[in-house]
Amino acid sequence: MQITYYGHACFEVKVNNKKLLFDPYITPNKLAEHIDFKSIKPDYVLISHGHSDHIADAVAISKQSDAIFISNFEITNWLSAKGVKNVHPMNLGGSFDFDFGSVKFFSAQHSSSLPDGSYGGNPGGFLIKGNHERNFYFAGDTGLTYDLKLIREYISIDFAFLPIGNNFTMGVDNAMIASEFINCDKIIGMHYDTFDIIKIDKEVAVEKFNRAGKELILFKIGETINI
Ligand code: NI
Ligand code: MN
Repeated sequence: MQITYYGHACFEVKVNNKKLLFDPYITPNKLAEHIDFKSIKPDYVLISHGHSDHIADAVAISKQSDAIFISNFEITNWLSAKGVKNVHPMNLGGSFDFDFGSVKFFSAQHSSSLPDGSYGGNPGGFLIKGNHERNFYFAGDTGLTYDLKLIREYISIDFAFLPIGNNFTMGVDNAMIASEFINCDKIIGMHYDTFDIIKIDKEVAVEKFNRAGKELILFKIGETINI
């Protein structure tokens, strides 16, 4: 699967030739200044929760693409009110078969207010079953929670996007425990370094995973990797 990192928790993943963009927060991110925002034209945008560092560029992307926006009911309603035409509302525990594969909206231990203070519903993450391709988990923002142990009952994951920046979400040590819970040793780190209070030592993080026989992949912003 081809994955491109746009900084913070924003990734584009190609699944069965459809481009899935997660948590668009690019233009406000100083670390992502070199990204050509106008060239981002996904087929789907998946939004984990309402915080601005996950949704800031959603409306702009709806204007430069025909993307379908997948998120919780409250967030898709909010996007519709902002003029976003193609939305697909979901809620926790539900799954749906899209043309690229199936999506299950899975609970996250976090909060979810929208940038203007509106109620953002419950925060979540996404379990993606790629049909003939691989399966993966995009956690969104979450702390470590026993709920993660449920994932292995649903799906066998090939890789997972987990937050590692600590403070607002789990940090590196808890992400290692999460990787046990979800039964997946290939972790792509996100939600670190963007702000001072989530800066991490990347070398130490990678080394910790290595010592536990796991892999922590940290993209450069703008980098594309095939996994
Ligand atoms: Ni958040
Ligand atoms: Mn966040």
